[in-house]
Formats: sequence, C-alpha cells, structure tokens
Amino acid sequence: MLHLDPNELQTPELHGYLLGAIGPRPICFASTVDEEGKVNLAPYSFFNVFSARPPILIFSPARRVRDNTVKHTLENVQAVPEVVINVVNYAMVQQMSLASTEYPKGVNEFVKAGFTMEPSQTVRPPRVKEAPVQLECKVVNVVSLGAQGGAGNLVMAQVERLHINQEILNAQGQIDPEKIDLVSRMGGNWYSRAKSGLFEVAKPNSDLGIGIDALPRAMRQSKILSGNDLAQLANVSALPEGAHEHSGKDINAQKKAKQFIEQGAIEQAWQVLIQE
Ligand SMILES: Cc1cc2nc3c(=O)[nH]c(=O)nc-3n(C[C@H](O)[C@H](O)[C@H](O)COP(=O)(O)O)c2cc1C
Repeated sequence: MLHLDPNELQTPELHGYLLGAIGPRPICFASTVDEEGKVNLAPYSFFNVFSARPPILIFSPARRVRDNTVKHTLENVQAVPEVVINVVNYAMVQQMSLASTEYPKGVNEFVKAGFTMEPSQTVRPPRVKEAPVQLECKVVNVVSLGAQGGAGNLVMAQVERLHINQEILNAQGQIDPEKIDLVSRMGGNWYSRAKSGLFEVAKPNSDLGIGIDALPRAMRQSKILSGNDLAQLANVSALPEGAHEHSGKDINAQKKAKQFIEQGAIEQAWQVLIQE
C-alpha cells in the first residue's frame, strides 16, 4: 500500500492519482456564451447530478496547473450565468475530444469539432444537436476552491429544460442504458464506454488541430467517414502536404482510410486520402 501526503506531491502527480482513482466520471459537454454572444463548447468530467428537486448539476472548470489561467467556460458563466449541459455518447467521443482543444477565446468549438448548434428555449447558449440528452441550465452559484493552479471552480447549474432524443427510450419511456451509449472519463488517455469497457482517445493536439471545418469538402461530406473518423483526421496541426479541396473523394480511398483510422494509423489514413 502506498501512503501519500498530498502536500508532498507535485500537482500533476496528485492530479494523476486522483483522476486515475476517481472514475469513470460522467462528461458534461458545456455550451456557454460570452457577453457578445460568442459561443464556446468544452467537456468537463469533474461533473455529476447532486439534486433532483431542485434539479442541480455541478461541474468544475479548474485553473490550469501549467500557468494558473482560467477556462473560457468559467469566464463565460461568470459573465452570462447560463449553460447547456449535453451528455456524450460513443458516436461523438472523438469530436468531443477535439472540442477540448485549447482554441483561442472567441473560437466556436461547435464549428471546429463539427457539431450542430440547436437553439435553446430558455437560455442563450445553443444545444449540441448530436447529443442524446441536452439540459438547458441557469447557473445559480459559482464557488471557487482556491487561487492556485489546479484549483476547481464549482459551477452549480439548475436545469430549466430537458431535451431527450426519443430514440434512446425503451418501451416504458425510460432511458435505455444500451441505447444512450454513454462514455465517461478515466485517468490518462482512458475512457470507458458503459456498455463495453475501456478504450483510449489520443489527447487533442497541443499545437491545435485544424478542426473539421478545415478538412477538404469531399471528406466532410463523406458517407463512409463518421464524425469520430473526421475528428481524428482533424486533430493534425496542418493539412498534410498535397491535400486539396477534392482530396479524399474516392470511395475506396475512404474505406481504406477508415480501416487505418480504426487501427490508430492517422498518418497512413491521410496518405491514402491524398494519393487517390
Ligand atoms: C473528457 C474531458 C474531460 C475534461 N474535464 C475537465 C474538467 O473537469 N475540468 C477542467 O478544468 N478541464 C477539463 N477538461 C479540459 C478542458 O475541456 C479543456 O481545458 C478545454 O480547452 C477548456 O475549454 P474552454 O477554455 O473553452 O472552457 C476535460 C477535457 C476532456 C477531453
């Protein structure tokens, strides 16, 4: 047994142990707006439901350990106390990861990660159309847990409207765990798909992925390449040499690229798409 005093650990090490031990954690995919109405979208796994009446969810955008800066989501809910909390299923996990890229303030991650903005009914931030459940919330309190890097900020959000895709319901009208197909966060690069177990997702590119909006049109409109496939292709820091607007229009090349993506071979997938 290891016996550790948190005060004697470096923050990244402490963070690693806590995140490895406390899991799987549900993922809050938070849509917010700034004072000018610019939209932001980011995932948060320090998250759960804490009360049914009133219906309260809490998530925590932390101060960065690296440089003690704060997340855009926190700035936004302090300026405009509204958030849409979307849940994340397996079909959107790679796009959700791409949306966690640290794009500059004002960049709309719906666009970069290829999600559809659906207008909300009670709050200003849009909903993620692809998410099986979308919860419009008013932020009722923000509690800072400290001023140093790594300190969390509890964002307490009261649900004002629930949107549930009927396709995830069973015959009794309840949410079916197989159909909702939720994913959750573990330590390191690990995630858990509730119905089948562990899998890894490469961290977003620290040089900033180009985003799905920057992919050649033929690839974006592909019927073969899924959102998860496109998100992995869009996690490169520049369009590979030779890529152009019509790259990847050949169906066989798309099929081959899909196989490479399934094996985690993103570079080879790009080569096939460019060379056809
Ligand atoms: C699945 C997942 C869960 C995350 N959970 C958290 C979290 O709970 N707290 C946090 O501060 N950052 C978390 N992050 C990192 C943020 O999403 C990331 O810093 C993002 O760029 C913040 O965006 P924003 O500045 O637009 O709010 C998570 C990232 C991923 C991929």
